[in-house]
Amino acid sequence: MSKNQFLLTRRRTLLLGLGTFLATIACSDQNRQTLADNDLTVSQDDLLKRSFSVNGKGSLKKRAAAKGLIYGGESAYEGVSADEDFANAIRRECNMLMNAGLKWHYGSKPLRPTPDTFDFTAGDWTADFAQKHNLLFRGHTLVWHQGLPPWFEETVKQENAREILVNHVQTVAKHFAGRIHSWDLLNEAIELGDGRSDNLRKTPWLEFIGPEYVELAFRTAAEADPKAMLVYNDYGLEYDTPDQEQKRTAVLKFLEDQKSKGTPIHALGIQSHLDHLEKTEKKFSAKKFREFLKNVADLGLKIMLTELDVNDTKLQGDINLRDRYVAAAYEDYLSVVLDEPAVIAVITFGLSDRYTWLTEFPRQDGQPVRPLPLDAQMKRKLAWQAMARAIDAAPKRG
Ligand code: XIL
Repeated sequence: MSKNQFLLTRRRTLLLGLGTFLATIACSDQNRQTLADNDLTVSQDDLLKRSFSVNGKGSLKKRAAAKGLIYGGESAYEGVSADEDFANAIRRECNMLMNAGLKWHYGSKPLRPTPDTFDFTAGDWTADFAQKHNLLFRGHTLVWHQGLPPWFEETVKQENAREILVNHVQTVAKHFAGRIHSWDLLNEAIELGDGRSDNLRKTPWLEFIGPEYVELAFRTAAEADPKAMLVYNDYGLEYDTPDQEQKRTAVLKFLEDQKSKGTPIHALGIQSHLDHLEKTEKKFSAKKFREFLKNVADLGLKIMLTELDVNDTKLQGDINLRDRYVAAAYEDYLSVVLDEPAVIAVITFGLSDRYTWLTEFPRQDGQPVRPLPLDAQMKRKLAWQAMARAIDAAPKRG
């Protein structure tokens, strides 16, 4: 086997996508950029030697607060209301609770059980929990093409779509007004594969209302709750692949257009589902990502990481090694992102491996996935240490 072949095989088998990702960004900024642009990989040996030591035992919320940052964990009603250990972990580690069960249809008490009714039981419980424990509260999501109720398709038509959208956004935003920090108002509205020149995804809202549904939704929410931060939230923005590069450009263009129309949009939510799923060659360019963040910030927008997790579904090796890949991805990504002063919040999609949407993508070896800062017993993992390190190293917000 030639040296090149050997390196290639080694790279394919050992390093997966995360390897290239974390290799992009070791230590200093200069290293980061050089590594990123050369797409080097890191060896398992280096990873096994890497230190994730942390100063002190302080919670992520304390560390974040010391930097003027928010650290949030996501839980819908079903998690935090039923599991005291988990609820305590959220209170201990987070200064924000995000409820991603505020989709139209989610969980045991969906928000829109029928076309004419709203059920706020689950949302109110979580908002009260947040208030009682001094956590900021955020909601996800008012306008999306998924998470829609079974009655949606037969009920929503061209002639009533506008009224139904406005009524939903108005009623829900008003209901939580004064209790909510931010809304993922519009989720995943850009899709390059849909072939439109404006890159809007073909959703029922687009089909029935037209591209102006975006502005309509933001304006309605801003009127119903003038204090909430209104966020455009999307995925597939993080890596240095041609499709993600195009998506960054499309999202930037979309944000520019909306800003120039005066749409009340206040922040970009970058979901940050870090993974190495299908593409083992996923790369990360610190340089390109910094530029993207800066371009977003230059539009006068804040930035939040809204659904951070690191998918270890396809990672080989024992738990120690997998946890190291995951931790390295957390630290390396956050250390780039947190340098951008417009980034105000980091929210992990869950907090403990006990509750993660990634169980929807089970590992072939049947082992549980470990994508979050705490393990399933609520114990801090290397990923927690990695987050603590990145937050501790972040510049303080002004
Ligand atoms: C997930 C839910 O948690 C799952 O239960 C559901 O089956 C799929 O959606 N991007 C988002 C989140 O914006 O709302 C998603 O949540 C994760 C992907």
